[in-house]
Formats: sequence, structure tokens, C-alpha cells
Amino acid sequence: MNSIKVKRICCIGAGYVGGPTMSVIADKCPDLEVKVVDINKERIDAWNNADLSKLPIFEPGLDLIIARTRGRNLFFSTEMEKSISEADMVFISVNTPTKTKGLGAGQASDLSWVEASARQVAKYAKGHTIVIEKSTLPVRTAQAIKEILKTTNVENQEDESTKNFSVLSNPEFLAEGTAINDLEKPDRVLIGGEDPRAVKALVDIYLKWVPKEQIICTNLWSSELSKLAANAFLAQRISSINSISAFCEATGADVQEVAKAIGTDKRIGNQFLSAGPGFGGSCFKKDILNLVYLSGHFGLPEVAKYWNQVVEMNNWQQDRIYKIVLEKLFGTVNGKNIAILGFSFKANTNDTRESPAIRISCDLLEEGAILSIYDPKVSFEKISSDLNKFSINNQGIWNIAESISGALKNVDAVLILTAWDEFYGLDWNYLASLMRSPAWIFDTRSVVSRQEIHNTGINLWKLGEGS
Ligand code: UDX
Ligand code: UDX
Repeated sequence: MNSIKVKRICCIGAGYVGGPTMSVIADKCPDLEVKVVDINKERIDAWNNADLSKLPIFEPGLDLIIARTRGRNLFFSTEMEKSISEADMVFISVNTPTKTKGLGAGQASDLSWVEASARQVAKYAKGHTIVIEKSTLPVRTAQAIKEILKTTNVENQEDESTKNFSVLSNPEFLAEGTAINDLEKPDRVLIGGEDPRAVKALVDIYLKWVPKEQIICTNLWSSELSKLAANAFLAQRISSINSISAFCEATGADVQEVAKAIGTDKRIGNQFLSAGPGFGGSCFKKDILNLVYLSGHFGLPEVAKYWNQVVEMNNWQQDRIYKIVLEKLFGTVNGKNIAILGFSFKANTNDTRESPAIRISCDLLEEGAILSIYDPKVSFEKISSDLNKFSINNQGIWNIAESISGALKNVDAVLILTAWDEFYGLDWNYLASLMRSPAWIFDTRSVVSRQEIHNTGINLWKLGEGS
């Protein structure tokens, strides 16, 4: 079997997945040339910004890698045609949001961008090209990509003799905030494909830094489904512990203690057992809804119903938090000042996609609350577009605070929604003096301890802590 020597890689999509993944590949494989292309010029300009604090995404450790690799063997550009035509291997890492209209609206993934990318590859590629699905996709999408590559190929008669493709699935398991560590030390790398030469070419790249035993090769469909299943299982754990958090509040148990007690059972494990305001991020909800849609499509309504409940529980968790705030503040927040600490969907990222903060803030705004929002990384523009998009009447009053103490001035309550490091160990004695009595802390991430607020006069409600 002749091996394929990959020299040039192109990645379509310079987002949260494409950007960090290609940076790490370029860092670990200095002999490869890696080009990341995107239709969004502004985003590419940001990736090329000399000031590394202005990269389009915030990810701990990413700036150091970019400093080492950018201009050496890592390039960001909008030159789609040139980059694809020169590449031996093309990763498709574009977004696959949930469809908002048409068949499967609200559940199925919108594959328009993936299809557009496949068509571009079919048009511009030269010689043999390995095409890799990096985006999370419905099971059997590889078949569609193969067909697009085959038919578009036939249309371009002049290249037909030399142009051919192998399609692989190589889903990404990185989590935002820990992306660099997840990429450098992955639990496993998953590669699905039928062409052994193409599979080996990709395995050889990962072997530069990932031990052989951790590279799992499967058929295409198993690889595609494993990504959906992994996200569904992770999200299911969060909905499970969140359901228990409500139970704890009702009974006097403490969800932290329960999580510790059950997590020490090796069969259960201690990861992903932190109760919170519900899971956010671009993947969990979208991927489960996709699984639900596909289950229906394949005639498995019971399976669809089972997984849909994970999303239902997540919606309920967000809903009940805002209702608790309302209830504790004497049934109304109209005209009351409330600080929101943390707007990103989790700590260490500036990403707000599906952040519970959006829905909870909008619900409070609808009730007439005046919000003062502080997040160390999320920009005013981002918060503004998130709140405008989701607020029904778009009439709420809110502002951005530059600091924690700035956010807490004259507020009746503070709602902690993201576990940023700087929210731990605050001087609540001082902060209490800024707040209006009777002051409340609503802590959904177990950031504040009872000892810390002892003698401050502040009331503390903690998610999952029964009284
Ligand atoms: C990823 C995965 O690819 C997606 O499947 C997964 O489920 C969520 O995470 P992500 O990198 O987070 O997507 O998305 P995003 O940050 O939106 O980046 C996608 C990029 O692709 C954008 O910069 C967009 O401009 C670009 N794009 C989109 C193209 O370059 N070409 C297109 O045709 C469409
Ligand atoms: C997830 C998967 O972890 C990753 O493997 C996949 O590639 C993409 O989707 P991500 O969404 O970036 O990654 O972050 P993750 O750490 O999984 O957190 C998702 C959400 O769950 C966040 O809102 C987080 O706050 C929440 N969460 C996580 C909890 O509420 N409790 C937990 O114990 C863990």
C-alpha cells in the first residue's frame, strides 16, 4: 500500500473549532503547511491581528501557540480557491446550526454551509484530496459529501482524470476554555473512514503527539454517531444532576454532597456532575435535537422522546432559576436592580452561544428588572446582540459594568451564572455595603460559601442546597 504524504492542509472555517485545532496541528507538525480559510474577512483579520489579545476567540494558551506558528506554517486567509487547490487534505469545520425553518425546523441540523464547502472543494481541488468532516454532523452526512464530490467532479470534465477524493470523519471533542489542553492531550482521537490510505495519512499526523492506543479508527457512520452520542451522554449527566439539584432544594439534601457521594463510585465517575443553571454552548442542545430528529427519521419515536427529555430538563432548570429570584424578591423584580455575574456559557471562554445567562436575563428583563451585567471576557456588542435577539419586546433596561463592585452598586440581588475564577473569595463584607437591603445572592454555580457571607447581612440562595 503506497502511503499518502500530506504536505499542505486547508481548513474551511476559522471558528472555535477550526482555529484552535489547526493551530495545534501546525504547532505539532512544523513540516506541514496549514491554511485556515473563512468567508468572514473580519474574523480572518482578527486572527491575523498583531495584538494577540485581539484574536477572535479567547482560549487559554492559544495566543502562545499562535505566536509560535503564525506566519511560520500557519496562515489565516480568505483565499478559498488557492488554499483548497494546493491542499492534500481539507478539513470542513463550518457551523451546522439547528434549522430554523422547513422540514425538521427546530431539530435537524442545517447543512447548507457544509454542502457549500463540499461544492467548493469539488470545484477547486486538484489531484487526490482527503476531505475530512470536522463539524459535528448527522449520521450519514459523509454519503452526501461523497455524492457532491463525485457529481461536481464529473461536471468538471477537464480535471476528471486526476481529481479524486477520500472522505473521512474526524469529530472534535474539545471543550471551550480547555481547548488547547484537550487538543494536546486528547482522551482519544476518532477517525472514521473506508479508504485505508487516507485513514493512515490522518493517523500519521496525530501520531506526532498522540499515543497510538488513543487513536480509534472506525467506520464512517460509527464515527459520526459517536460524536452525537458523546455529547448526548455528557448533556444527559448535567440534566440528571440538575434534576437532583431541584430534589435537594425540596428535601434538605445538598447537591454538592450528593455529587461527591455518587461520583466516588468508579462506575459513575466524578466528572460532569456539577449542578448549574443548565448547559449552554454551541453543541449540546443542537446535537441532542439532531439525535432526536434522526431517531424520528429512522422510525424510533421512543428513542427520540428519551433524548428530548434531556433538553426539556435543561429548559426547565433555566426557567425555575428566574422564578426563584422572583419569588425571593417578594414576587416582583419590577424596577429592582439585579447584577448578573458571568454571561458566557461557562468560564474561560468569551462564547455566549446558548448561554443560560441569555434566557435568564431576558426573563428578568421581561419582568421589569434593571440588570447590571459583568463578564470579564464577553463584549458589550455580544451581550447587546444576544439580549436584543431574545428579548420579546426589546424594552428592558440593562447596562454593562466594568467591575464586580461596579455591577453591585445599589442592587437588590446578585445572580452568579458563570464560575469565573475572579468570582471566588470576594470581599462580601465590602460588597454588602454597596447593595440595597435586604440583599440577596443567587448562586447557581456554587461559588460562594456560607462562611463568606456570615455576618454580612446578605441572604444566600444556592442552587441544589436545601434549607
Ligand atoms: C463548530 C463545528 O464545526 C460545529 O459543527 C459544531 O457543532 C460546533 O462547533 P464552530 O467552530 O464553533 O463550529 O463554529 P463557528 O465559530 O461559527 O465557526 C464556523 C466558521 O465557518 C465561521 O467563522 C464562518 O464564517 C465559517 N464559514 C461558514 C465559512 O468559512 N464558510 C461557509 O460556507 C460557512
Ligand atoms: C462540549 C463537549 O464537552 C465537547 O467534548 C464537545 O466537543 C463540544 O461540546 P463545550 O460545550 O465547549 O464542550 O463545554 P462543556 O465543558 O462540555 O460544557 C457545556 C455546558 O455544560 C456548559 O454550559 C457548562 O457550564 C455545563 N456544565 C458542564 C455543567 O453545568 N456541569 C458540569 O458538570 C459540566
